[in-house]
Amino acid sequence: MIANALIAWFTTNGRDLPWRHTRDPYRVLVAELMLQQTQVERVIPKYHAFLAQFPDVQTLAAAPTSAIITAWQGLGYNRRALYLQRTAQAVVSQYAGVFPRDVATLKQLPGIGDYTSGAIACFAYEQDVAFLDTNIRRVVLRLWSDPHAPIPSEQSLRDLAAQQVPAGQGWVWNQAIMELGAIICTATAPKCPRCPLRGDCGDYAARLAADDALLPLPPAKPRRVAERKDAPFAGSNRQIRGRIIDALRESPQSGAQLHTHLTSLGLTLDTAKLTTIIAGLGRDGLVVVDGDIIKLPE
Ligand code: ADE
Repeated sequence: MIANALIAWFTTNGRDLPWRHTRDPYRVLVAELMLQQTQVERVIPKYHAFLAQFPDVQTLAAAPTSAIITAWQGLGYNRRALYLQRTAQAVVSQYAGVFPRDVATLKQLPGIGDYTSGAIACFAYEQDVAFLDTNIRRVVLRLWSDPHAPIPSEQSLRDLAAQQVPAGQGWVWNQAIMELGAIICTATAPKCPRCPLRGDCGDYAARLAADDALLPLPPAKPRRVAERKDAPFAGSNRQIRGRIIDALRESPQSGAQLHTHLTSLGLTLDTAKLTTIIAGLGRDGLVVVDGDIIKLPE
């Protein structure tokens, strides 16, 4: 049976990751937000340091926003740090510091979507729910969708995933499927010969049929699962925004100082563009403009 095979594989081969030792929804949320877009190896030390500084939801809710943005350094996507604090504040003010249990209520918290709400319900409260991240989505597509049909909608994929969750074992199942996607069923050059589920895999069967002499991969035809790609980073507004926040972590700056600083980093932009980017950061709540001085929010 697929569930037993996958769970047995995970029990032996899964990595020992710090967030797999907790059922505290606050810690699960911190881990999941950090892990969105940031590699596991980079997250581990940040996860420990962040929780040492902000050990619970009350501490985080009450902390200066600038301290949280500063602690987020090296993780990228600073807006996640803001959402994390807004969520903490909502949990404290609306739910007396106790995270809601059900997915629909969790989803109403700031910055918590389909994935994160499912992850908290499952990884903290051990509910048998299904949710998709890049790794789970890829495994579901390869295992349970028709390799010759068009790629199913997000909702169909979630339904496919939900049908597979074994009763009472949602926590280990979702950790296991995520782990399979991270270390075996990878986007390019998946390690099918080491996969515990290859005998049940539609995609593997299609690869065999397409080119049975040349395993493992890459196959002649079968559908490559599209990965979501971020826009190019170098020279992008996102890069400039990140460099501005980096500078403000050190100290408040004037617009002219920021311009000089960015130029020294090899980033060319005119003052009008810099003003637009700073205004955008202000709208997002990541910076405060005080006269000529730009700083992190208190
Ligand atoms: N990426 C996102 N969530 C994860 C988890 N719980 N374990 C490993 N990688 C992850």
